Parts: sequence; C-alpha cells; structure tokens
Amino acid sequence: MTSHKKPTDILRQEHENVLQKLDALEGVISRLHEKDAIAAQLKDLASFFNTDFWTHFAKEEEALFPELEKFIPRDAGPVGVMLMEHDELRKTNTEIQRAIDEYFTGSDSLQASAVIQNHGNSFIMVLRDHINKENNILFMMADMHLDGSQEATVLKRFDEIENTGGKAK
Ligand SMILES: [Fe+2]
Repeated sequence: MTSHKKPTDILRQEHENVLQKLDALEGVISRLHEKDAIAAQLKDLASFFNTDFWTHFAKEEEALFPELEKFIPRDAGPVGVMLMEHDELRKTNTEIQRAIDEYFTGSDSLQASAVIQNHGNSFIMVLRDHINKENNILFMMADMHLDGSQEATVLKRFDEIENTGGKAK
C-alpha cells in the first residue's frame, strides 16, 4: 500500500514549521538591543515571513479553501474568518517588514525596535491562535468532507503553487 498524504497533512506540517519560526521570532524580538548578535537570525526570519509563508497562505486560499467552499459558504463559516485573519496577518507583516528595514538601515533603531515589538507580538499571538483554529476546526472539516478527487485537485494545485512561489499580496 502506498502512503497517501492528504492536503491537510501537508498544511499541518507547514504549520509546525511556522510555529517554530514564531518561537524564534519571539526570542529575537526580545533581544533587539543586541543587534550584532541577532542580525542574521532576524534577517532569516524576515525573509521566511516574506516568502515561504505566503506560499503556505496561497495553498490554503487558492487550493484548499475553494474546495471547502463547495459545501461551506464563505460568509457563513470558518473559511470567511480564516480569510479575514489572513488579511490582518498580511497587513501586520507589512508593518513588521518595514520596521525591520528601518531597524537595519534607518537612523532611529530604537523607534524601529518598538514598532517591531508591537507588531511582532501581535503577529505572533494572532498567528498561533489562527493555526490552532485551522488545525482543529477547518482541517477537521476538510478531512471529513473532501472526497478523494477533491483531495487530488488540491494536491495538484499545491504543486503548481510550489512551482510559482508565494509572495505577499
Ligand atoms: Fe495555515
């Protein structure tokens, strides 16, 4: 028997990776006064949340959610809530990215640190809670309702998205 990975298995695995990055981000933003020591890690994290992370969102928004919406209307259920939270996270991420640029290249790195901390802590809190809801509510619904051919459609879209890469929209 060949092992068959469901779309939600892949997304759950990506969530584990995102949660690890959030732990790292939490550590780094509490040490912004040690710029030399954290610079490389902060740059790596900024890059992750500006690229790979959007590939993950694209997989949900452009592959999984459309199949779910065939039986859960967007406005009446968790898909609509997840999309609203994605938008909020995109906006917060834009602020964080701008503040990180400022932190490295601007004249007021103290001010930039404060902005990174504010938005960073909110991003971490909202995203952990968001992942928890996706894992425990939305993906459970997907596991119950998607049939084999829908799962195959989602997996095929995942491949296409992987090949074109994600970007912050
Ligand atoms: Fe997700």
